[in-house]
Amino acid sequence: MADTRPATNGEPSGGFPAGRHIVKALDPKWFVHHDTNAEMRWTSAAEQRFATANDRFFVRNHTETPMIDPVSYRLKLYGDGLAGAPTAEQPLTFSLDELKALPPYRISSFLECTGNGRALFALQQGMSVPGTPWLLGGIGMATWGGVRLSSVLREAGLRPQAVDVMATGLDDPYVCGGVDYGRVRRPLPISKALDDSILVFEMNGAPLPPDHGSPVRLFVPGWVGIASIKWLGQLEVSTKQLESPWNTIWYRMTGGDYPTDSPPLTTVPVRSGFELGWGATFAVGESVVLSGRSWSGAAPIERVEVSLDGESWQSPRLTGPNGKHSWTRWEVPWQPMTPGGYELLARATDKLGRTQPDSVPFNSEGYLFWAVVRHPVTVV
Ligand code: MTE
Repeated sequence: MADTRPATNGEPSGGFPAGRHIVKALDPKWFVHHDTNAEMRWTSAAEQRFATANDRFFVRNHTETPMIDPVSYRLKLYGDGLAGAPTAEQPLTFSLDELKALPPYRISSFLECTGNGRALFALQQGMSVPGTPWLLGGIGMATWGGVRLSSVLREAGLRPQAVDVMATGLDDPYVCGGVDYGRVRRPLPISKALDDSILVFEMNGAPLPPDHGSPVRLFVPGWVGIASIKWLGQLEVSTKQLESPWNTIWYRMTGGDYPTDSPPLTTVPVRSGFELGWGATFAVGESVVLSGRSWSGAAPIERVEVSLDGESWQSPRLTGPNGKHSWTRWEVPWQPMTPGGYELLARATDKLGRTQPDSVPFNSEGYLFWAVVRHPVTVV
């Protein structure tokens, strides 16, 4: 059932020497390497339990992983949304120990890249788009440990007039097409910041690894991955709406079937994936139990339907946790008796009634491909 994709996909390197932009080892058995990013192979998910191990978790870097000393690290907060309106030049600061002294908070949640599934626009809908050609491995599930963002903001003197919080990373400025867009940053509405957003310093019980934002990252449950700024350097708290290229140029639906203006992307749609390699092979007459996972950024999963012949649908058993921001696992037996190519389909519906469609409208950045995936396998 191996994943037949090669370890690299022959994309241009973007000027980053191989291996430098990601610190952890990228075993080709577990990852497909796309330039500055690493995609999880779903064969890796199959061997694991509910959570994705830190060393197999996908990485999405705009530039490269910085190494930040946790001892000298200081999170800066400023802006007129805080009492006394501290400035960027004279911000409030929190050391890692000061953050850790606040009430602890933990959440089990998936993290998914907005472009996850982008390659499927071409494979299933004949529409090619630029950008990292993720199949479905730009996702992972972890228990994130840290403190609520609301605790930090209140400690810093949050004013009721605050409307937005701009989170900025400490990685190198992002340069694309000769334009320097500055450090990776994106504003978060105060409602989501106070609801369930976290400042994370632990991932699956271990210190947050460098590639995933050490020493501190923002984590925004249920929202597209770009909201969860890694290597968090500063938070600007403002009484006015804030903007960055990550909410005005990118991470919103533009072009294709969309109107010229659409709001910045927030909640992850409903999706499903088989815990199988892309192009996996099976022996004729072999009895197997196929497994997979479905998830939604808005609600737990209500039901999953699976088709193994492209015509009839069955409802697999859901197993294990099925929380608001977690994926849920399912299993279905299969005994293919005829050799040839098959497409395995899984279609989930969440508890808000959102069901995966057969196809999705096109957008020019290839975001949020949430149609039913036609997973190819061969029976020999
Ligand atoms: N934060 C910073 N500072 N720099 C980045 O490149 N990438 C974002 C987000 N936060 C990014 C960032 C994107 S697009 C995603 S999908 C997630 O981090 C990926 O998190 P991971 O690499 O821990 O899986």
